[in-house]
Amino acid sequence: MSENRYGMTKVGDLMKRGAEFLSCEYPIICGAMTWVSEPRLVSSVCNSGAFACLAGGNMPPDLLESQINETQSLTNGPFAVNLITIAPAYKKQLDMVCSRKHPIIIFAGSFPRQNEIDKAKKAGAKVLCFASTRSIADRMIRYGADGIILEGSEAGGHIGHVSAMVLLQQILFKFGDKLPVFVAGGIGTGRMMAHVLLMGAAGVQLGTRFVMTHECIAHPNFKLMFKNAQARDAVSTPQYDSSLPVVAVRALRNDAQKEFGQLQLRLLKEISSGKTTRENAQEEVEKFWIGALKKAVIDGDIKKGSVMAGQSVGLADEIKSVKELIAELVADASSEMERLASILGYSFSF
Ligand SMILES: Cc1cc2nc3c(=O)[nH]c(=O)nc-3n(C[C@H](O)[C@H](O)[C@H](O)COP(=O)(O)O)c2cc1C
Repeated sequence: MSENRYGMTKVGDLMKRGAEFLSCEYPIICGAMTWVSEPRLVSSVCNSGAFACLAGGNMPPDLLESQINETQSLTNGPFAVNLITIAPAYKKQLDMVCSRKHPIIIFAGSFPRQNEIDKAKKAGAKVLCFASTRSIADRMIRYGADGIILEGSEAGGHIGHVSAMVLLQQILFKFGDKLPVFVAGGIGTGRMMAHVLLMGAAGVQLGTRFVMTHECIAHPNFKLMFKNAQARDAVSTPQYDSSLPVVAVRALRNDAQKEFGQLQLRLLKEISSGKTTRENAQEEVEKFWIGALKKAVIDGDIKKGSVMAGQSVGLADEIKSVKELIAELVADASSEMERLASILGYSFSF
Protein backbone atom coordinates (compact mmCIF):
# COMPACT_ATOMS: atom_id res chain seq x y z
CA MET A 1 0.00 0.00 0.00
CA SER A 2 1.16 3.50 -0.58
CA GLU A 3 0.38 6.51 1.48
CA ASN A 4 -0.76 9.84 0.14
CA ARG A 5 -2.03 13.10 1.58
CA TYR A 6 -5.60 11.79 1.67
CA GLY A 7 -4.68 8.62 3.61
CA MET A 8 -3.67 5.08 2.77
CA THR A 9 -4.81 3.85 -0.57
CA LYS A 10 -4.53 0.76 -2.67
CA VAL A 11 -4.74 2.72 -5.90
CA GLY A 12 -1.44 4.43 -5.26
CA ASP A 13 0.65 2.26 -7.49
CA LEU A 14 -1.90 2.19 -10.25
CA MET A 15 -1.73 5.99 -10.31
CA LYS A 16 2.05 6.11 -10.43
CA ARG A 17 2.51 6.11 -14.19
CA GLY A 18 0.04 8.93 -14.83
CA ALA A 19 1.21 10.91 -11.81
CA GLU A 20 4.82 10.74 -13.01
CA PHE A 21 3.82 11.71 -16.53
CA LEU A 22 1.94 14.77 -15.27
CA SER A 23 4.36 15.47 -12.38
CA CYS A 24 1.58 15.55 -9.81
CA GLU A 25 0.35 13.26 -6.99
CA TYR A 26 -2.93 12.07 -8.53
CA PRO A 27 -3.47 11.59 -12.25
CA ILE A 28 -6.89 13.19 -12.01
CA ILE A 29 -7.11 15.91 -14.64
CA CYS A 30 -9.58 18.75 -14.34
CA GLY A 31 -10.26 19.13 -18.08
CA ALA A 32 -10.11 22.51 -19.73
CA MET A 33 -13.47 24.24 -19.83
CA THR A 34 -13.69 27.51 -21.73
CA TRP A 35 -14.68 30.40 -19.39
CA VAL A 36 -14.53 27.96 -16.44
CA SER A 37 -10.92 26.73 -16.26
CA GLU A 38 -9.30 29.99 -15.20
CA PRO A 39 -6.42 30.60 -12.78
CA ARG A 40 -8.35 30.10 -9.52
CA LEU A 41 -9.83 26.73 -10.42
CA VAL A 42 -6.65 25.52 -12.12
CA SER A 43 -4.41 26.49 -9.21
CA SER A 44 -6.80 25.02 -6.62
CA VAL A 45 -6.74 21.68 -8.41
CA CYS A 46 -2.94 21.70 -8.67
CA ASN A 47 -2.59 22.73 -5.02
CA SER A 48 -4.77 19.74 -4.07
CA GLY A 49 -2.35 17.31 -5.69
CA ALA A 50 -4.21 16.71 -8.96
CA PHE A 51 -3.66 18.27 -12.39
CA ALA A 52 -5.55 20.94 -14.35
CA CYS A 53 -5.63 22.64 -17.72
CA LEU A 54 -5.95 26.33 -18.35
CA ALA A 55 -8.46 26.85 -21.17
CA GLY A 56 -7.08 28.86 -24.07
CA GLY A 57 -10.58 29.14 -25.56
CA ASN A 58 -10.96 32.14 -27.78
CA MET A 59 -8.56 34.31 -25.79
CA PRO A 60 -6.15 36.73 -27.45
CA PRO A 61 -2.59 35.50 -26.75
CA ASP A 62 -1.73 38.37 -24.39
CA LEU A 63 -4.74 37.63 -22.20
CA LEU A 64 -3.90 33.93 -22.18
CA GLU A 65 -0.33 34.79 -21.24
CA SER A 66 -1.50 36.92 -18.33
CA GLN A 67 -3.69 34.00 -17.17
CA ILE A 68 -0.66 31.69 -17.31
CA ASN A 69 1.30 34.19 -15.20
CA GLU A 70 -1.57 34.53 -12.74
CA THR A 71 -1.91 30.75 -12.39
CA GLN A 72 1.83 30.43 -11.82
CA SER A 73 1.58 33.02 -9.06
CA LEU A 74 -1.07 30.87 -7.33
CA THR A 75 0.56 27.44 -7.60
CA ASN A 76 3.96 25.82 -7.94
CA GLY A 77 2.37 22.76 -9.47
CA PRO A 78 2.55 22.12 -13.19
CA PHE A 79 -0.55 22.65 -15.32
CA ALA A 80 -1.36 22.31 -18.99
CA VAL A 81 -2.50 24.91 -21.46
CA ASN A 82 -5.35 23.70 -23.64
CA LEU A 83 -5.43 25.15 -27.15
CA ILE A 84 -8.42 24.82 -29.44
CA THR A 85 -7.05 24.31 -32.93
CA ILE A 86 -10.06 25.97 -34.57
CA ALA A 87 -9.93 29.12 -32.41
CA PRO A 88 -9.15 32.31 -34.37
CA ALA A 89 -6.04 33.11 -32.27
CA TYR A 90 -4.85 29.48 -32.10
CA LYS A 91 -1.60 29.90 -34.07
CA LYS A 92 -0.55 32.96 -32.07
CA GLN A 93 -1.49 31.21 -28.81
CA LEU A 94 0.70 28.27 -29.84
CA ASP A 95 3.62 30.60 -30.66
CA MET A 96 3.26 32.23 -27.25
CA VAL A 97 3.11 28.99 -25.18
CA CYS A 98 6.05 27.55 -27.15
CA SER A 99 8.13 30.68 -26.65
CA ARG A 100 7.47 30.41 -22.90
CA LYS A 101 8.43 26.72 -23.00
CA HIS A 102 5.24 25.73 -21.22
CA PRO A 103 5.71 22.12 -20.02
CA ILE A 104 2.43 20.51 -21.15
CA ILE A 105 0.27 21.47 -24.12
CA ILE A 106 -3.07 19.85 -24.87
CA PHE A 107 -4.47 20.19 -28.36
CA ALA A 108 -8.27 20.20 -28.55
CA GLY A 109 -10.98 21.15 -31.03
CA SER A 110 -9.89 19.45 -34.20
CA PHE A 111 -6.62 17.61 -34.72
CA PRO A 112 -3.37 19.52 -34.65
CA ARG A 113 -1.13 19.33 -37.71
CA GLN A 114 2.15 17.40 -37.65
CA ASN A 115 4.19 20.63 -37.74
CA GLU A 116 2.25 22.03 -34.77
CA ILE A 117 2.98 18.97 -32.63
CA ASP A 118 6.63 19.12 -33.78
CA LYS A 119 6.79 22.77 -32.78
CA ALA A 120 5.41 22.10 -29.29
CA LYS A 121 7.78 19.19 -28.75
CA LYS A 122 10.75 21.14 -30.04
CA ALA A 123 9.94 23.76 -27.41
CA GLY A 124 10.24 21.00 -24.81
CA ALA A 125 6.54 20.46 -24.13
CA LYS A 126 4.85 17.16 -23.48
CA VAL A 127 1.95 16.91 -25.90
CA LEU A 128 -1.44 15.43 -25.12
CA CYS A 129 -4.08 15.05 -27.82
CA PHE A 130 -7.76 14.18 -27.65
CA ALA A 131 -9.05 11.12 -29.45
CA SER A 132 -12.74 10.50 -29.99
CA THR A 133 -12.19 7.65 -32.47
CA ARG A 134 -9.58 4.93 -32.94
CA SER A 135 -8.35 6.47 -36.22
CA ILE A 136 -7.76 9.85 -34.57
CA ALA A 137 -5.77 8.12 -31.81
CA ASP A 138 -3.74 6.32 -34.46
CA ARG A 139 -2.98 9.53 -36.27
CA MET A 140 -2.08 11.52 -33.13
CA ILE A 141 0.33 8.79 -32.01
CA ARG A 142 1.92 8.75 -35.47
CA TYR A 143 2.30 12.55 -35.23
CA GLY A 144 4.22 12.12 -31.96
CA ALA A 145 1.67 12.75 -29.16
CA ASP A 146 3.19 11.78 -25.81
CA GLY A 147 -0.20 10.86 -24.36
CA ILE A 148 -3.81 10.51 -25.42
CA ILE A 149 -7.01 11.67 -23.79
CA LEU A 150 -9.70 9.27 -24.88
CA GLU A 151 -12.98 11.18 -24.65
CA GLY A 152 -16.30 9.40 -24.88
CA SER A 153 -19.46 11.02 -26.20
CA GLU A 154 -20.91 11.11 -22.66
CA ALA A 155 -18.67 14.13 -21.97
CA GLY A 156 -19.79 17.74 -21.74
CA GLY A 157 -18.92 20.38 -24.35
CA HIS A 158 -17.81 19.56 -27.91
CA ILE A 159 -17.90 15.80 -28.35
CA GLY A 160 -17.39 12.91 -30.73
CA HIS A 161 -19.94 10.20 -31.44
CA VAL A 162 -18.42 7.12 -29.80
CA SER A 163 -19.08 6.21 -26.17
CA ALA A 164 -16.25 5.78 -23.68
CA MET A 165 -17.27 2.13 -23.24
CA VAL A 166 -16.30 1.38 -26.86
CA LEU A 167 -13.26 3.70 -26.92
CA LEU A 168 -11.86 1.93 -23.85
CA GLN A 169 -11.67 -1.21 -25.94
CA GLN A 170 -10.56 0.48 -29.16
CA ILE A 171 -8.02 2.93 -27.77
CA LEU A 172 -7.08 2.05 -24.21
CA PHE A 173 -6.76 -1.69 -24.83
CA LYS A 174 -4.85 -1.08 -28.04
CA PHE A 175 -2.46 1.71 -27.02
CA GLY A 176 -2.52 1.71 -23.20
CA ASP A 177 0.78 -0.18 -22.91
CA LYS A 178 2.47 1.99 -25.50
CA LEU A 179 1.79 5.45 -24.07
CA PRO A 180 -0.26 7.01 -21.24
CA VAL A 181 -3.97 7.07 -22.03
CA PHE A 182 -6.25 9.23 -19.88
CA VAL A 183 -9.96 8.50 -19.91
CA ALA A 184 -12.59 11.25 -20.11
CA GLY A 185 -16.34 11.30 -20.50
CA GLY A 186 -18.86 10.10 -17.97
CA ILE A 187 -16.53 9.60 -15.01
CA GLY A 188 -18.18 10.93 -11.89
CA THR A 189 -16.94 8.69 -9.08
CA GLY A 190 -13.71 7.40 -7.59
CA ARG A 191 -15.14 3.91 -7.90
CA MET A 192 -15.25 4.28 -11.67
CA MET A 193 -11.78 5.79 -11.63
CA ALA A 194 -10.46 2.64 -9.91
CA HIS A 195 -11.92 0.50 -12.70
CA VAL A 196 -10.42 2.47 -15.57
CA LEU A 197 -7.05 2.44 -13.80
CA LEU A 198 -7.36 -1.33 -13.49
CA MET A 199 -8.09 -1.48 -17.22
CA GLY A 200 -4.75 0.19 -17.85
CA ALA A 201 -5.57 3.91 -17.96
CA ALA A 202 -2.83 6.25 -16.78
CA GLY A 203 -5.45 8.51 -15.26
CA VAL A 204 -8.80 10.17 -15.73
CA GLN A 205 -10.09 13.54 -16.90
CA LEU A 206 -13.26 15.04 -15.46
CA GLY A 207 -14.98 18.30 -16.35
CA THR A 208 -18.57 18.22 -15.19
CA ARG A 209 -17.84 17.38 -11.55
CA PHE A 210 -15.26 20.16 -11.25
CA VAL A 211 -17.94 22.70 -12.18
CA MET A 212 -19.60 21.77 -8.87
CA THR A 213 -16.81 23.17 -6.73
CA HIS A 214 -16.68 26.34 -4.63
CA GLU A 215 -13.56 27.46 -6.47
CA CYS A 216 -15.25 27.26 -9.89
CA ILE A 217 -16.30 30.72 -11.06
CA ALA A 218 -19.43 29.52 -12.87
CA HIS A 219 -22.52 31.56 -11.96
CA PRO A 220 -24.67 30.10 -9.13
CA ASN A 221 -27.52 29.59 -11.66
CA PHE A 222 -25.22 27.40 -13.75
CA LYS A 223 -24.36 25.25 -10.72
CA LEU A 224 -28.00 25.09 -9.61
CA MET A 225 -29.00 23.76 -13.01
CA PHE A 226 -26.28 21.09 -12.68
CA LYS A 227 -27.55 20.17 -9.23
CA ASN A 228 -31.12 19.69 -10.44
CA ALA A 229 -30.25 17.90 -13.69
CA GLN A 230 -30.49 14.19 -14.37
CA ALA A 231 -28.05 12.36 -16.65
CA ARG A 232 -30.67 12.28 -19.42
CA ASP A 233 -30.96 16.09 -19.44
CA ALA A 234 -27.43 16.43 -20.91
CA VAL A 235 -28.27 16.08 -24.61
CA SER A 236 -26.13 16.39 -27.72
CA THR A 237 -26.93 18.56 -30.72
CA PRO A 238 -27.70 17.04 -34.13
CA GLN A 239 -26.15 17.86 -37.49
CA TYR A 240 -28.91 18.53 -40.02
CA ASP A 241 -26.98 18.20 -43.26
CA SER A 242 -23.47 17.23 -44.35
CA SER A 243 -23.13 20.48 -46.32
CA LEU A 244 -22.60 22.11 -42.89
CA PRO A 245 -20.53 19.73 -40.74
CA VAL A 246 -20.88 20.74 -37.10
CA VAL A 247 -19.23 19.25 -34.04
CA ALA A 248 -21.87 17.98 -31.63
CA VAL A 249 -22.15 19.77 -28.29
CA ARG A 250 -23.49 18.13 -25.12
CA ALA A 251 -25.32 20.56 -22.86
CA LEU A 252 -28.39 20.69 -20.64
CA ARG A 253 -31.63 20.96 -22.60
CA ASN A 254 -32.77 24.61 -22.88
CA ASP A 255 -33.55 27.40 -25.40
CA ALA A 256 -29.90 27.64 -26.52
CA GLN A 257 -30.05 24.07 -27.83
CA LYS A 258 -33.19 25.01 -29.82
CA GLU A 259 -31.62 28.25 -31.02
CA PHE A 260 -28.67 26.28 -32.36
CA GLY A 261 -31.09 24.21 -34.45
CA GLN A 262 -32.52 27.42 -35.94
CA LEU A 263 -29.03 28.79 -36.57
CA GLN A 264 -28.09 25.64 -38.48
CA LEU A 265 -31.24 25.85 -40.63
CA ARG A 266 -30.55 29.51 -41.48
CA LEU A 267 -26.89 28.81 -42.31
CA LEU A 268 -27.83 25.81 -44.46
CA LYS A 269 -30.15 28.05 -46.50
CA GLU A 270 -27.42 30.68 -46.83
CA ILE A 271 -24.89 28.07 -47.99
CA SER A 272 -27.24 26.67 -50.61
CA SER A 273 -28.09 30.16 -51.91
CA GLY A 274 -24.39 31.10 -52.03
CA LYS A 275 -24.85 33.87 -49.45
CA THR A 276 -22.17 32.34 -47.24
CA THR A 277 -19.46 29.69 -47.46
CA ARG A 278 -19.25 26.50 -45.45
CA GLU A 279 -16.14 27.80 -43.65
CA ASN A 280 -17.80 31.09 -42.68
CA ALA A 281 -20.87 29.21 -41.50
CA GLN A 282 -18.72 26.91 -39.35
CA GLU A 283 -17.00 29.94 -37.86
CA GLU A 284 -20.38 31.45 -37.03
CA VAL A 285 -21.36 28.19 -35.32
CA GLU A 286 -18.22 28.24 -33.14
CA LYS A 287 -18.79 31.91 -32.25
CA PHE A 288 -22.32 31.01 -31.28
CA TRP A 289 -21.11 28.38 -28.79
CA ILE A 290 -18.41 30.53 -27.24
CA GLY A 291 -20.90 33.41 -26.77
CA ALA A 292 -23.65 31.13 -25.53
CA LEU A 293 -21.32 29.42 -23.02
CA LYS A 294 -20.20 32.79 -21.66
CA LYS A 295 -23.84 33.88 -21.33
CA ALA A 296 -24.56 30.89 -19.10
CA VAL A 297 -21.26 30.51 -17.18
CA ILE A 298 -20.55 34.19 -16.51
CA ASP A 299 -23.92 35.99 -16.82
CA GLY A 300 -25.99 33.16 -15.37
CA ASP A 301 -28.49 33.15 -18.24
CA ILE A 302 -29.26 29.44 -18.19
CA LYS A 303 -32.21 29.74 -20.57
CA LYS A 304 -30.55 31.39 -23.55
CA GLY A 305 -26.96 30.51 -22.69
CA SER A 306 -25.35 27.12 -23.25
CA VAL A 307 -25.12 25.01 -20.08
CA MET A 308 -22.52 22.56 -21.37
CA ALA A 309 -22.49 19.44 -19.19
CA GLY A 310 -21.72 15.76 -19.51
CA GLN A 311 -24.09 12.94 -18.61
CA SER A 312 -22.08 12.64 -15.39
CA VAL A 313 -24.13 15.67 -14.30
CA GLY A 314 -26.40 12.99 -12.86
CA LEU A 315 -23.57 12.26 -10.41
CA ALA A 316 -22.82 15.89 -9.56
CA ASP A 317 -25.34 16.90 -6.91
CA GLU A 318 -23.27 18.65 -4.33
CA ILE A 319 -20.96 21.65 -4.39
CA LYS A 320 -17.70 20.82 -2.62
CA SER A 321 -14.29 22.36 -2.32
CA VAL A 322 -11.77 21.14 -4.89
CA LYS A 323 -9.82 19.52 -2.09
CA GLU A 324 -12.90 17.65 -0.85
CA LEU A 325 -13.68 16.47 -4.37
CA ILE A 326 -10.17 15.11 -4.94
CA ALA A 327 -10.15 13.49 -1.48
CA GLU A 328 -13.52 11.86 -2.24
CA LEU A 329 -12.33 10.51 -5.60
CA VAL A 330 -9.13 9.08 -4.12
CA ALA A 331 -10.87 7.58 -1.07
CA ASP A 332 -13.66 6.00 -3.15
CA ALA A 333 -11.17 4.57 -5.63
CA SER A 334 -9.25 3.11 -2.74
CA SER A 335 -12.37 1.53 -1.15
CA GLU A 336 -13.27 0.01 -4.48
CA MET A 337 -9.88 -1.64 -4.67
CA GLU A 338 -10.38 -3.01 -1.14
CA ARG A 339 -13.83 -4.32 -2.14
CA LEU A 340 -12.46 -6.04 -5.22
CA ALA A 341 -9.62 -7.54 -3.23
CA SER A 342 -12.04 -9.02 -0.71
CA ILE A 343 -14.41 -10.35 -3.41
CA LEU A 344 -11.53 -12.03 -5.16
CA GLY A 345 -10.07 -13.23 -1.87
CA TYR A 346 -6.87 -11.80 -3.15
CA SER A 347 -4.48 -9.29 -1.81
CA PHE A 348 -3.30 -7.06 -4.62
CA SER A 349 0.38 -6.61 -4.73
CA PHE A 350 1.65 -3.96 -7.03
C1 LIG B 1 -18.69 23.58 -19.56
C2 LIG B 1 -17.67 22.74 -20.31
C3 LIG B 1 -16.77 23.38 -21.16
C4 LIG B 1 -15.77 22.63 -21.82
N1 LIG B 1 -14.84 23.29 -22.61
C5 LIG B 1 -13.79 22.59 -23.11
C6 LIG B 1 -12.72 23.26 -23.76
O1 LIG B 1 -12.70 24.48 -23.87
N2 LIG B 1 -11.67 22.51 -24.24
C7 LIG B 1 -11.64 21.14 -24.09
O2 LIG B 1 -10.67 20.51 -24.53
N3 LIG B 1 -12.64 20.47 -23.48
C8 LIG B 1 -13.70 21.17 -22.96
N4 LIG B 1 -14.67 20.50 -22.24
C9 LIG B 1 -14.50 19.04 -21.97
C10 LIG B 1 -13.78 18.79 -20.63
O3 LIG B 1 -12.46 19.28 -20.64
C11 LIG B 1 -13.73 17.29 -20.26
O4 LIG B 1 -12.98 16.56 -21.21
C12 LIG B 1 -15.11 16.68 -20.15
O5 LIG B 1 -15.95 17.52 -19.40
C13 LIG B 1 -15.01 15.30 -19.49
O6 LIG B 1 -16.23 14.64 -19.41
P1 LIG B 1 -17.31 14.89 -18.23
O7 LIG B 1 -18.05 16.13 -18.63
O8 LIG B 1 -18.17 13.68 -18.28
O9 LIG B 1 -16.58 15.03 -16.94
C14 LIG B 1 -15.71 21.22 -21.63
C15 LIG B 1 -16.65 20.60 -20.78
C16 LIG B 1 -17.60 21.34 -20.12
C17 LIG B 1 -18.57 20.64 -19.19
